[in-house]
Amino acid sequence: GNPLISMTNRYCVFGNPIGDSKSPAIHTRFAQQTGEEIVYEARLAPIDGFAAAVRDFIALGGRGANVTVPFKEEAFRLCDRHTPRALQAGAVNTLIFAGDGITGDNTDGAGLVQDLNTNLGTVIAGRRVLLLGAGGAARGALGPLLAEKPALLVVANRTAAKAEALAEHFAADGPVDGCGFTALAGRHFDLVINATSASLGGEVLPLPAGCYAPGALAYDMMYGKGDTAFLAAARAAGVTRLADGLGMLVEQAAEAFFVWRGVRPVTQPVLEALRQP
Ligand code: ATR
Repeated sequence: GNPLISMTNRYCVFGNPIGDSKSPAIHTRFAQQTGEEIVYEARLAPIDGFAAAVRDFIALGGRGANVTVPFKEEAFRLCDRHTPRALQAGAVNTLIFAGDGITGDNTDGAGLVQDLNTNLGTVIAGRRVLLLGAGGAARGALGPLLAEKPALLVVANRTAAKAEALAEHFAADGPVDGCGFTALAGRHFDLVINATSASLGGEVLPLPAGCYAPGALAYDMMYGKGDTAFLAAARAAGVTRLADGLGMLVEQAAEAFFVWRGVRPVTQPVLEALRQP
């Protein structure tokens, strides 16, 4: 084939839908900033054709890929090897293609913690943390959050049994409990992280009044124009420290870029550019 094309370092993000993905813009800015010569595109994978889409991209010379909704669990199953944090998450958002197979990594939890620590200046150590949801997003966050040594981490979910099972799975990694939303009555948290997909449908979680301690941060892994449904409810409850998931998106991308290229981009100017209306 064309040697110029085969020498290009090609990366992409797979998802369905994928049209609104900010990942190409983020990685293109990282590449410009670091001088790394990469091309990064969004690729729509058919719902029943993720594995074939990955194979096609490898055949085109792809060096790596990000994976987003709804393929992170399928990506996990597709990999020949996993990093420890991907094993812990049970999901893969970063693929590395090498001659001897596909390695799966997960940079979501590291991106969340990096956003909290660095962009938002939030200390997790010693704090009471409430993680809402018990699906893939919550599971990916649990290990990296517990590694920061919170005083306590409560996982609360609409389906309480899923939160309890998740807490049990991570019991060896720190002080973690699982419960339903009603069991939160009378408890207070310094950091409340929404890892449910309820905001997508504009739905508000039935959190008891008072679950936010004074000065607490409300953090939504989702983002959108203006407040998400979760952040709007927190604001209405008197919370003044609010953050959406755009910082996490940029930080998980930076961590993936580092995994692929061995160079750590500076995220702040990229985050600022994305925040421009
Ligand atoms: P993801 O990969 O985004 O975590 P998921 O694995 O399907 O997606 O998990 C979705 C999470 O959002 C679950 O915790 C789900 O609660 P249930 O386990 O009870 O289903 C939660 N969720 C979705 N819609 C919700 C809603 N309207 N109210 C409360 N929780 C909701």
